[in-house]
Amino acid sequence: MARQWSEGHSSSILCVGASVGPEGLLASGSEGGEVTVWSQEGTILGRLTLPGEEDSTSVVFSPAVPGQLYVSHGDTGPVEEFQGAGEEEINALALNETGSALAVADDSGAVRVLELPGGKVCRTLRRHTNICSSVAFRPHRPNNLVSAGLDMQVMLWGLQKTRPLWTLNLQDVAEEEDDHQQRPGQLFNPPLAHCVSVASCGNVLACAAEDGRVHVMRIGSGSKLEQQGAVKAHSQGASQAHFVSFLSHPYWLVTGGNDGQVALWDLGTHPVVAPEGKAKTKATAAQRRKGKSKTKRKEQSRDKAKTPSKDKSGPKLSISHGDKVNWLCPAVLKGEQCVVVADQSCSLTVYPLSHL
Ligand SMILES: *[C@@H]1O[C@H](CO)[C@@H](O)[C@H](O)[C@H]1NC(C)=O
Repeated sequence: MARQWSEGHSSSILCVGASVGPEGLLASGSEGGEVTVWSQEGTILGRLTLPGEEDSTSVVFSPAVPGQLYVSHGDTGPVEEFQGAGEEEINALALNETGSALAVADDSGAVRVLELPGGKVCRTLRRHTNICSSVAFRPHRPNNLVSAGLDMQVMLWGLQKTRPLWTLNLQDVAEEEDDHQQRPGQLFNPPLAHCVSVASCGNVLACAAEDGRVHVMRIGSGSKLEQQGAVKAHSQGASQAHFVSFLSHPYWLVTGGNDGQVALWDLGTHPVVAPEGKAKTKATAAQRRKGKSKTKRKEQSRDKAKTPSKDKSGPKLSISHGDKVNWLCPAVLKGEQCVVVADQSCSLTVYPLSHL
């Protein structure tokens, strides 16, 4: 049963972050610079409005210092501490595993990496030619960072260099896939990249894009881009994709879109994540089809009763949320596996994932 967390904001909520640990807090940021901190029961523990009325676009808790929160707000970046962290409006923040590096992505397309504490800029990565919408550190690979932008590019960076290790243009992938899958009469938006997430193993990336797809990439040895593909996840732009760290394996992914849907996917059987025969080369179209039909059979037998979707290779759980999804945050709340959804309203909605 869905729960509503209300009263925390007076405008549309743009971002949600959860801190780790059994008593971990949640935070949400909204238009107009509001930030609200919540307990796991949805009690409001604190509210503030940052000066300047710019949107709070990203909230992240430090994994190292309990209760320490970074908020991006206008061009000043992480609250007050680090003036001038970005030249333009900041869209995304990410902390590395030890909480000692903060990545800041801005409207110019630049990604800055700041050392913590202190906030000294140690790297400026300029390669995106449009807004950089999302950044993520790669677990288990210190100094590896992924960025994605409205230039439709996903980039993997090694922080020793100011050049990306590789760049994937999502448009190339989309076109390639269309050669194999006829969709007569369907027009798709360009794959502007909105949200990138890295699975806890560090080698699988998912990127939600405006074409409604979630693009999936696997990184091989030497940080090479080994394989790529996509899941047609939403009937309109996909705004959110987050790997869920607390389910049975690292490849559960929760996605949200402008179609008002929230879906949970098991990418563990996706041909990009689990390539057949562990082939090092890119899967052919035939291999991909084979992979898909296998998945279908498995799912048909396993969850006949509960999959509402007609497409059997589709999500394991599909929620008609009903409003355009701004942000998703997987979280364990009082022992219950949940996803917290922010949309265009002033409330958060919490959906349990427990009946999986
Ligand atoms: C986090 O970033 C700091 C500063 O760049 C670096 O020294 C450290 O190795 C990083 N830790 C991880 C786990 O990535």
